[in-house]
Amino acid sequence: MKTQVGIIGAGPAGLLLSHLLHLQGIESILIENRSRTYIESRVRAGVLEQGTVNTLNEAGVGERMRKEGLLHHGIELSFHNKRHRINMHELTDGRAITVYGQQEVVKDLVKARLVAGGQLLFEVEDVSVHNLDSNQPKIRFRKDGEEQEIACDFIGGCDGFHGICRPSIPAGVLQVFERVYPFGWLGILAQSKPPSEELIYCHHERGFALFSMRTPEITRLYIQCTPDEDIANWPDDRIWHELELRLGADESIQLQEGKILQKGVTPMRSFVVEPMQYGRLFLAGDAAHIVPPTGAKGMNLAVADIRHLSRALGGYYQNNRTDLLEQYSATCLRRVWRSEHFSWWMTALLHRFPDYTPFQQRLQLSELEYVTSSRAASTSLAENYVGLPMN
Ligand code: APR
Ligand code: PHB
Repeated sequence: MKTQVGIIGAGPAGLLLSHLLHLQGIESILIENRSRTYIESRVRAGVLEQGTVNTLNEAGVGERMRKEGLLHHGIELSFHNKRHRINMHELTDGRAITVYGQQEVVKDLVKARLVAGGQLLFEVEDVSVHNLDSNQPKIRFRKDGEEQEIACDFIGGCDGFHGICRPSIPAGVLQVFERVYPFGWLGILAQSKPPSEELIYCHHERGFALFSMRTPEITRLYIQCTPDEDIANWPDDRIWHELELRLGADESIQLQEGKILQKGVTPMRSFVVEPMQYGRLFLAGDAAHIVPPTGAKGMNLAVADIRHLSRALGGYYQNNRTDLLEQYSATCLRRVWRSEHFSWWMTALLHRFPDYTPFQQRLQLSELEYVTSSRAASTSLAENYVGLPMN
């Protein structure tokens, strides 16, 4: 097989890349090791920045998101069992976020690619990349028991944190920056009305909790737990009880119990590699960087990377430009590091750290009070949360 851009991974990064390339008349083949059903039902993050929403709309894949996505103008921070609203809309000249599940974005993109006759190959095995520092890199894999090879001009490494692209770059090329947190999130999807119309981030002495949603009937909840937590320790009753405690529910807010549809534990880490490129392999999304989910930046960063990569590849094919490709990594890394800082900061602000001294715990509460009472401090949170207009 032969194509212009070979793409590995059908997450938001890979799918959006293949779609944006198609809109510029550039051909790609996308391979994914899971099934279509699997990627379309995997529950992940759900907060879209305004810039992400704009990108999806401009790419013509925003129709369902505009109908079903929930527009939010603020978030709440809870501490000492009291909620404080951050009015993002007012603090950021009218910007907002949209709550729309990542797997819904994935479904919309898969559909758009298939309608356009795009080549998506699911359930491939043993993927490997070769000749990355030549003008014709290759992707090898097995599909239905047969060995296959794609010769391409470029490879989009969009295969997530556990993919094969990043580890295929020769040793010594990448610099790795990493921080692993001493906790994880137990994520729950439940058939119940969310306790509030907006997201509630709770600081609590028992640990962090987050109340989010997917629809007015489906709530998405997270509880801080140990990074290697055994899900068997969390029967449904314990989950609801713990959420009730951490929400500090009073008469103004009600936590409604409902059928738990899904639960899973995610460890938390911050991770960046520099540069995000080696030869003709370009890394994008989780393949190049991970943020802890507290700042809701993961999918937005993946989309921002792809905006740059598709523009750079467009410049190459349409005008023979190589400058945008050369600048790709440095351009992306500016936003990546801003989001890394913000996500680390939100994580440090809201979680219970097992090794924190009483002195550090007091500092954390003081910062929460400052962030929710000073206009300057809440503006800083709000503008990062809705997404800075960086190019
Ligand atoms: N070959 C083919 N596909 C692979 C391989 C491989 N060797 N390894 C992994 N994949 C696939 C995964 O199955 C997955 O579908 O690559 C895809 C990577 O997608 P994501 O993990 O969703 O990563 P990305 O597209 O960068 O999106 C980032 O995902 O983890 C969330 O919070 C994160 O929202 C962020 C988003
Ligand atoms: C989610 O709804 O899944 C969600 C919301 C906000 C976050 C993380 C996850 O910070």
